[in-house]
Amino acid sequence: MDEHNRPIHTFQVCNVMEPNQNNWLRSNWISRQAAQKIYVELRFTLRDCNSIPWVSGTCKETFNLFYHETDEAHSVKFKPQQYTKIDTIAADESFTQMDLGDRILKLNTEVREVGPMTRKGFYLAFQDIGACIALVSVRIYYKKCPFTLRNLASFPDTVPRVDSSSLVEVRGACIDHAEERDTPKLFCGADGDWLVPLGRCVCSIAYEEIDGSCTACHPGFYKAYAGNIRCSKCPPHSFSYGEGAAICHCETGFFRAESDPPTMACTRPPSPPRNLMFNLNDTCLMLEWSHPSDTGGRRDLTYNVQCKRCGPEPDQCQFCEEELRFLPRPLGLTDATVTIMDFSAHANYTFEIESLNGVSDISSFPRQVAIITVSTDQGGPSLVGSLKKDWASPNSIALSWQQPEQTTMLILDYEIKYYEKQLSYSSTRTKAPSVIISGLKPATWYVFCVRTRSPAGYSSYTPKYEYKTTGDCKYLRPSTALVTGLGYISSDQGQVLVIVTAAVGGFTLLVLLIVPSSLVKILKTHSQCLCFFPSVPTGPFPGIKTYVDPDTYEDPTQAIHEFTKEIDPSRIRIERVIGAGEFGEVCSGRLRTPGKKEIAVAIKTLKGGYVERQRRDFLREASIMGQFDHPNIIRLEGVVTKSKPVMIVVEYVENGSLDSFLRQHDGHFTVIQLVGMLRGIASGMKYLSDMGYVHRDLAARNILVNSNLVCKVSDFGLSRVLEDDPEAAYTTTGGKIPIRWTAPEAISYRKFSSASDAWSYGIVMWEVMSYGERPYWEMSNQDVILSIEEGYRLPAPMGCPVALHQLMLHCWQKERSHRPKFTDVVTFLDKLIRNPSSLLCSPGSPGEEMDYPMFISIGDWLDSIKMTQYKSNFMAAGYNTLDSVARMNIEDVRRIGVELIGHQRRITSSVQTLRLQLLHEQEKGFHV
Ligand code: ADE
Repeated sequence: MDEHNRPIHTFQVCNVMEPNQNNWLRSNWISRQAAQKIYVELRFTLRDCNSIPWVSGTCKETFNLFYHETDEAHSVKFKPQQYTKIDTIAADESFTQMDLGDRILKLNTEVREVGPMTRKGFYLAFQDIGACIALVSVRIYYKKCPFTLRNLASFPDTVPRVDSSSLVEVRGACIDHAEERDTPKLFCGADGDWLVPLGRCVCSIAYEEIDGSCTACHPGFYKAYAGNIRCSKCPPHSFSYGEGAAICHCETGFFRAESDPPTMACTRPPSPPRNLMFNLNDTCLMLEWSHPSDTGGRRDLTYNVQCKRCGPEPDQCQFCEEELRFLPRPLGLTDATVTIMDFSAHANYTFEIESLNGVSDISSFPRQVAIITVSTDQGGPSLVGSLKKDWASPNSIALSWQQPEQTTMLILDYEIKYYEKQLSYSSTRTKAPSVIISGLKPATWYVFCVRTRSPAGYSSYTPKYEYKTTGDCKYLRPSTALVTGLGYISSDQGQVLVIVTAAVGGFTLLVLLIVPSSLVKILKTHSQCLCFFPSVPTGPFPGIKTYVDPDTYEDPTQAIHEFTKEIDPSRIRIERVIGAGEFGEVCSGRLRTPGKKEIAVAIKTLKGGYVERQRRDFLREASIMGQFDHPNIIRLEGVVTKSKPVMIVVEYVENGSLDSFLRQHDGHFTVIQLVGMLRGIASGMKYLSDMGYVHRDLAARNILVNSNLVCKVSDFGLSRVLEDDPEAAYTTTGGKIPIRWTAPEAISYRKFSSASDAWSYGIVMWEVMSYGERPYWEMSNQDVILSIEEGYRLPAPMGCPVALHQLMLHCWQKERSHRPKFTDVVTFLDKLIRNPSSLLCSPGSPGEEMDYPMFISIGDWLDSIKMTQYKSNFMAAGYNTLDSVARMNIEDVRRIGVELIGHQRRITSSVQTLRLQLLHEQEKGFHV
């Protein structure tokens, strides 16, 4: 009976009185199964020998445990010598007579390990050598790591190694709809525990993990990639109907390009280009347009220009991309502009400009295009025969040449380009095949070449001829005369044709643009908008010297030859590095020119390892600068292109860039000196705008100042200057623009013009008058755009004469045609300089009335200048009316606890504006 008085079966022996006992009990054959090591748990009772009288020599208190491994399952004759002893088993507790009387069961439990086992099975045997024992139970078992699911992988039952210090590595199998990432593994420990999970499986495409299994995505959701992610909602313009979608299908009219990831929204082809504009000079047509209003939801917008040349009948059209030259190319344009050259005479050309994106080829919708038609009415240019010197004097040379043989074409005139060897070129025109060029230096070699100008453009130049003047005389340099035209018109995908004709130099343009009917009225009443800009004569010869975009040259080296002088590098001495440009170091040094005084120069270098495109971009700036000749524009001395390093050599400007110069000399100049600097910048800008050059990055950092405080506009290179301007940020339309300096129309739709340069000039004025303060301080670009849109304008800097701030406000008019022209700015500043009393800080100076927003409370005012945090400082110090604030000076601002210098300045400069405003309002009879 056990302790609960239930009957139990036991094997018993108790021959304690008789000596030399050797009694055996053997098990049946036991299958080893998967075990490598078995555990034997014995439960038994054992009688205390001391509690039995007269048995001291014969009674034992232990028994022995044996085993025998064998593959045979059938019982064989018991042979004790075949058995291996496992252990001698002793009792932890033995019982006495008294325990028996009290019915106390003193049960012992002992466990022994046996292994490694290798045969199919085994027998256990117990040897009694004279103890009084009852064997209650024998449990034989082995340990295993049980089947488990971890990290979306299943691991089978695994038996541990016999050697308890080493683990069994088990590779898991991914569950249904899952796949391996890193091989899933677990290690089985000696005690049957799984340890060290490594690797994992992840749910396959179209399935997501929910509660340890992979479940199909619901309708409207998809999973395109295998991974530990959930199913996602279908991207815009796509859907999935069934369960388990790997990808969502595009709605009708929307597409996915081959390279589009399934996560991307479905997109559609773009709408056609808008606002198609043309810009014409004698030989080439430049088309420019605005991005389509609908990009179809994609960024890979390109344009194709298709050319058709038509005969008199409308059906006699043929494609003409092959005949004309397109810069940069007719197809796959990424910029919204193209220049077209090499037109034939008496032909009508139609250009269809199509916007494309990555899904245009997939869509079967009819394509929409913007169309322009061009008609040429004269023949192509013809070449001049050889050139000869008729006579020379100290200041003049007379030349003549053979007329072109092809006489059918009207020759408008000849252009003669000439330059003193080593210097920049000049040109003049004549209608006859001869010319007398005067104003030359005595005893000096000049280089000449001539080209014909016909209604269809220019011919090539003759080869270069070198002739020398005689004797000694005064020097005068003539200037060139070229003509260009510019027209523009808005267009969209409407249906009405507007026909406008304009003629320049005999090259006739018939412009047919497809525009919406709503625009027709406007176009009819403003058709003069399509006329070319009026020409403003500059220099001693009639006509306009016009800026020529180096990009219109098919071969950029031709532009470099045309507009720059090659310098022999032996004439340059580099002295020290003064800065780093985008392309390489900027150094200062000296330039020797035979017969001239050595001059200080700045040398921009192109660092080694450049590709051809970088070399071209680097030299573009020189091709632009080389066309300018003005005291307020940085002067190009020449270039080194024939040897390395490639260099651009410009005049050295001692005080470096204007913004840092002003910051270093904060408060050091008189207002007249500052206005003098501004006048110089305006004069340089007037020169540039007269030449038709738009700077696009006018800012104090791009102005250089010499030792006489003469300011020189620098940093040319067209839109590409913006690439290296650290201030230029990307706009939502993808352009890179220095937001704080740029007019709103240039930011929003890239309408850069001399009027947008005028806006930037206003910002430069503000930078100058605040000694290099950052425009709009630390406001974000986005806040600047928003506040300008809301009508906010920079307040007058501290100590800035009202007249100057009014000029700034004039430059910052939203409507660009209301902004002053640079010629007006120069005239206005000249008047201020001549009449310094106008620069005293009093309101009522000439110009437009100011239109400042009036603030009603200190809180509103501080909010407007983003200084709200100081409201309590003002209140605590008793400044609770605008009148009292208007009387504050910088000391007062410091005293109330504004510690940051930038904040002190911002508040003081706004106080100044406030003061003027109050005075102004009082003058008008208002009470605040
Ligand atoms: N840094 C860049 N160009 C310079 C110039 N022309 N003179 C002085 N410093 C310059």
